[in-house]
Parts: sequence; structure tokens; C-alpha cells
Amino acid sequence: MVTMELTKPDKGFGRITAKDISKGFKRTDGEVTIALNHLDADIKAGEFICLIGPSGCGKSTFLRLIAGLSEPTSGVITLDEQPIKEPGYERGLVFQDPTLFPWLNIYENIAYGLKTRHVYKAHKQDVADFIHLVGLDGFEKSYPHQLSGGMAQRASLARALVNNPKVLLLDEPLGALDAFTRMNMQDEILRIWKERGTTMVMVTHDVDEAIYLSDRIFVMTPRPAKIEEIIEVLIGRGENQGRQRDSSDFLRLRSKILQILDFTGKTLSPEYYL
Ligand SMILES: Nc1ncnc2c1ncn2[C@@H]1O[C@H](COP(=O)(O)OP(=O)(O)O)[C@@H](O)[C@H]1O
Ligand SMILES: [Mg+2]
Repeated sequence: MVTMELTKPDKGFGRITAKDISKGFKRTDGEVTIALNHLDADIKAGEFICLIGPSGCGKSTFLRLIAGLSEPTSGVITLDEQPIKEPGYERGLVFQDPTLFPWLNIYENIAYGLKTRHVYKAHKQDVADFIHLVGLDGFEKSYPHQLSGGMAQRASLARALVNNPKVLLLDEPLGALDAFTRMNMQDEILRIWKERGTTMVMVTHDVDEAIYLSDRIFVMTPRPAKIEEIIEVLIGRGENQGRQRDSSDFLRLRSKILQILDFTGKTLSPEYYL
């Protein structure tokens, strides 16, 4: 069982606000690609948000701004009222392709953040606890190439979580996994969320995944992106916090979201069927 002594983010922290955010990229031809256009968002502490929208609409750009990996052209993003200016361990990041260091074993990968922050000695036990939390006991000495995609993604989750982030930013973290592993990982993520109370902001292409997981879904428009609609998912959660995937409420919400995305089967990629 998961030990309850695990360091956890303080309750009530992890609120993100974005006020009038715009982000442009200078292109080589001198023109500017506007990725985000006067975007506003308010994400409550401990909330599970999914961002959904057509490819290239600015979802990753928004996540990178929250991560502090790039700065908005205008507007301010805050974490618990503090403007975000640079990356920080209180905002963990997990990408579609696990970005584990290939030359470090799983234990060393997960301990990496604690070591660079010089807090490893004090939190050594956390490494073992998080390895356990994501179900990788016995794989401490394995190297990333020896793990399956799902296991590597769980190691990436543990590597972010060991730093006790208030916010976990997930950029299509399950996109590369097969359907079965993907569903297991969704439950894994829900379990971690329930256990830790971390604010979750997850980009996904998969409408069903968004409904299964989130408290609210931000539906983004094609570039330059804004949040077109915010959908509160009012369908009750099961014991594992997930929702019954074939209930009539689930299916109704799914077709509503597909409609908002202006699904025609021609203009959008087939990923929206999934
Ligand atoms: N570093 C960058 N330099 C130039 N253009 C970029 C950069 N990052 C993203 N863009 C552009 O911004 C738009 C939004 O990209 P992105 O946020 O990656 O979309 P999404 O994640 O929704 O698929 C795209 O047109 C993309 O080409
Ligand atoms: Mg993206």
C-alpha cells in the first residue's frame, strides 16, 4: 500500500490564472504566427482540467507558458497569485514521449530532481515511495530502453511527482500508448490525483479521455487559440474516480464536444473518433 507519509502539496495551493494571454512566434519570413490570442483561464487548486482542440491550435504553447519554458508576448500567468517567470519544480511536466535520461537507470532518473536541488538526502525515502506508487518496484536498476512505453511513462510521472509539484502539466502523456495500456494509465493518473490532490492540466486529443478524467474540459478553437467553451463534467465518478465510458450521459457529452470542435470528419483528424 501507498505510505501516507509521502510529502504532499499543501491543500488549497496550485491555482493557475491566465489573464489576457497572447503568444506570437516570429517566423523566418518575418511574419508572426499567433498561437494564443487573448486567452483567459482560471484553474482551481486541485482541479483536473483537460485541454482539447485541433492540432496546432496552441495547447502545448499554453502548457509551456504555465511551465515557464517560454514567456507570453503579453498577459500574465500566475501560480497561487505569483507571476510565472521561469520553470520550477513546483510545476511538474510530462510529455508524450517519456523524456527519461537514457544513461541513468530508473532509480537515478526519478531521484534526479532531488539531487539537482540538493535535497536528496532528506527525501531519499520518497524515491522508493514514488517508485512504489507508480508500480515500478523491482525496476530500479533497469534502464529506460528496457521498459515498455507504459512503464517509461509511469517513471516519467514518478520523476515529476517526487518533487512534490503543486501542478502537474501533462502534454498528451498517453498519446503513444496502445488503447489497453492507455486506459490503465488513465486510472493510474486518477489514483495519483486522488491520493495527492495535485492540480492537473492535461492536453489530450481524445475526447473520451477528457470526459473520463476531468472536472472541466477547456475546448480550444483553431489558431489563434482561445478557450471556446468550458465544459463542466457533471457525470458522477466511480470508485476509481473514472466515469462509466458507455453511459448515456457520457455519450451525450461526447457528441456535444465533437460538435463544438466542428467535427465534420473531413476537416479534423480521425483521432477525434477515438
Ligand atoms: N517554438 C516555436 N516557434 C515557432 N512556432 C511555434 C513554436 N511553437 C509552436 N509554434 C506554432 O504555434 C502554433 C501552436 O503550436 P502548439 O502549441 O504546438 O499546438 P498544439 O499543441 O495545439 O498542437 C503552431 O502553429 C506552431 O507551429
Ligand atoms: Mg501539442
